[in-house]
Amino acid sequence: MNNTKPTPGKPAQIIVDGKTLECPTFVGTENEKAMDISKLRDSTGYVTFDNGYANTSPTTSSITYLDGDNGILQYRGYPIEQLASQSTFLEVAFLLMNGELPSKTELEAFEKEIESHQTVDESFLKFFDIFPKKAHPMAMLTGATVGLSTIYQTEVDPANKDFTKKNAIRLLAQFPALTAAAYRHGKGEKRVAPKKGLDYASNFMHMMFSQNDSYSVPKEIVAALNLLLILHADHEQNCSTSTVRLVGSSAANLYASVAAGITALWGPLHGGANQAVMEMLEEIQKDGGDIAKTIAKAKDKASGFKLMGFGHRVYKNFDPRAKIIKVACDQVLKTMGIQNPLLDIAKKLEEAALKDTYFIEKKLYPNVDFYSGIIYSALKIPTDMFTPMFALGRMPGWVAQWKEMVEGGTTKIGRPRQIYTGYTKRDLKRG
Ligand code: SDX
Repeated sequence: MNNTKPTPGKPAQIIVDGKTLECPTFVGTENEKAMDISKLRDSTGYVTFDNGYANTSPTTSSITYLDGDNGILQYRGYPIEQLASQSTFLEVAFLLMNGELPSKTELEAFEKEIESHQTVDESFLKFFDIFPKKAHPMAMLTGATVGLSTIYQTEVDPANKDFTKKNAIRLLAQFPALTAAAYRHGKGEKRVAPKKGLDYASNFMHMMFSQNDSYSVPKEIVAALNLLLILHADHEQNCSTSTVRLVGSSAANLYASVAAGITALWGPLHGGANQAVMEMLEEIQKDGGDIAKTIAKAKDKASGFKLMGFGHRVYKNFDPRAKIIKVACDQVLKTMGIQNPLLDIAKKLEEAALKDTYFIEKKLYPNVDFYSGIIYSALKIPTDMFTPMFALGRMPGWVAQWKEMVEGGTTKIGRPRQIYTGYTKRDLKRG
């Protein structure tokens, strides 16, 4: 069953101040239940209060399903473990954006379309030259992504499905070039154009690292990059995806909505965690690798320190992506003959935390960001480029979620309420 209307359930009752509100309820295809409280304020004068929206669903969606208690992640019904081991990133991007895996001919046509749109005009790429050398790539990518809309600004009306199709391809095709441009800016290196005939992952690595025409990407690096991009491709209503939807709900165009998502992803509590994990592991290493001291600091609220890469709003058992990446770490480092002491520190941290009552009681496990940086480092990707790599992977998810919302045609502009706790009315007394 796909994209079905939720099944109505028995109405729920909210009884407050002697008033009773009957709320319709409904159930999704994976038995997730919701009560529709759209009439709550008008009927009772109350609004709900839900810090971090932990109990609030702003939408139905048929793209990605998470079961946090059983560590399940499915894209359009396919388990992440199967997609990770049997697909390419472009196949998964097609699946997320169109609802089904592409046939052989559809995939070839899609790859051709991506290839024919992958070049970003050098005059636009000069945008990166205005930034300070040490500019964080996420800042540059936010500006460049919304800037892309100016090249296509006669074709950005969200109500036009053909424009959305074109802009989805443009974003997916050109974001690798923008990401590589941000990296090259930081290195003070000339930008390199995409090369025809290379697959998506190889072309990205070519634009990042090639210094001459003989540059080639070993197949184990292509496989590792494909895997990481697939694992990051979507994750239902996380902070950055919800940001893309909220901005899109004002009828802002796809580029503007995705640029907002990039800024949300940058936060260290979200996608920025992969950079923060690496910096944390390096700190621990510098400080003599004292695992017990780190665990104690993470448990001490007063320290303000969190074990980065640990914990998740939804996963309360394990993050299936972290499990896959941890295995891939060993494989990639072994194949490339790399020893990274930070991997041993990460494994010791995980082992110590999983035995500690603080982490067990609070259900804190490694998330997608805990091990990913070890592989990015093996691919010679610098730490400040880790979150851009997350954005590169998440692009098809953001596009798919925005498209589903805009084309669903039922989403109202997002406008939450508040409970005011400031001054009551007072007069302005002059003189
Ligand atoms: C991503 O949502 C998604 O799907 C996101 C994502 C995606 O694919 O889009 O999966 C990607 O963002 C993964 C998360 C990356 N962030 C980090 O690794 C940062 C470290 N983790 C934490 O900041 C935290 O766990 C969050 C932000 C991930 C989740 O925060 P919640 O759900 O708001 O939980 P919380 O902060 O209220 O924590 C509950 C308790 C608290 O203790 P008490 O106040 O109950 O005593 O657990 C503690 C927290 O102090 N806690 C941690 C901790 N994470 C939570 N204590 C130490 N170290 C940690 N990492």
